[in-house]
Amino acid sequence: MIEEKDINIEPISDKHKSFISSFNTYEPDLKDFLVEDAISNQNNRISKTFLMFHKANLVGYVTLLCDSLRVEGEIKGYCKSKNIPYKTLPAIKIGRLAVDDNFLKKGFGTRLLHLAYIYAKNISDNHCGCRFLILDAKRNKDSSKDSLHFYKKMNFTVLKERFKGTTPMYFDLMIESKKF
Ligand SMILES: CC(C)(COP(=O)(O)OP(=O)(O)OC[C@H]1O[C@@H](n2cnc3c(N)ncnc32)[C@H](O)[C@@H]1OP(=O)(O)O)[C@@H](O)C(=O)NCCC(=O)NCCS
Repeated sequence: MIEEKDINIEPISDKHKSFISSFNTYEPDLKDFLVEDAISNQNNRISKTFLMFHKANLVGYVTLLCDSLRVEGEIKGYCKSKNIPYKTLPAIKIGRLAVDDNFLKKGFGTRLLHLAYIYAKNISDNHCGCRFLILDAKRNKDSSKDSLHFYKKMNFTVLKERFKGTTPMYFDLMIESKKF
């Protein structure tokens, strides 16, 4: 049982270099991003990465950035039904999200998603127009490793069907029915 008091969130910085070098995930580009780009992107205000620690272990991370969602395809009808007339809408993007292989299926992915939601919701409620939380779900031939199923379980909706690479998905920040 994971206790909330044992979890710590820290924005990434140089002091974390030894932790991030030993982070492992079955999606190698998510390790590469963490090691090679996360700190410099953060210094350049391109993205912000939050590390999740459980006790002394780095268990996962999530990277956020500003983006926009193009209103086309299936979401067109959704926006029309809500009387939203624009062609693009403001969004916060989950640029990367990964849990260390040694800590999968323990609820850390859900907690990282919740963290992203709380930050995006705070911006949307109090600071700046922002309607959606969006992401590109990484696809994997092995369904137990296919993040699309994880995000669907968490009530994200597919924006555009794609079976290889990544599938764009969204969550409406004005909807309360979330599972994370
Ligand atoms: C996707 C990922 C973040 C899930 O993290 P996790 O910590 O294992 O997820 P959780 O333990 O919070 O799981 C929550 C629920 O989703 C389910 N789940 C997790 N991964 C799943 C998958 N690939 N397919 C189906 N269900 C999945 C869990 O079984 C759990 O269901 P339950 O509540 O009914 O028991 C993790 O597998 C990961 O880091 N993958 C590699 C990187 C990646 O693909 N990131 C996404 C990039 S967009």
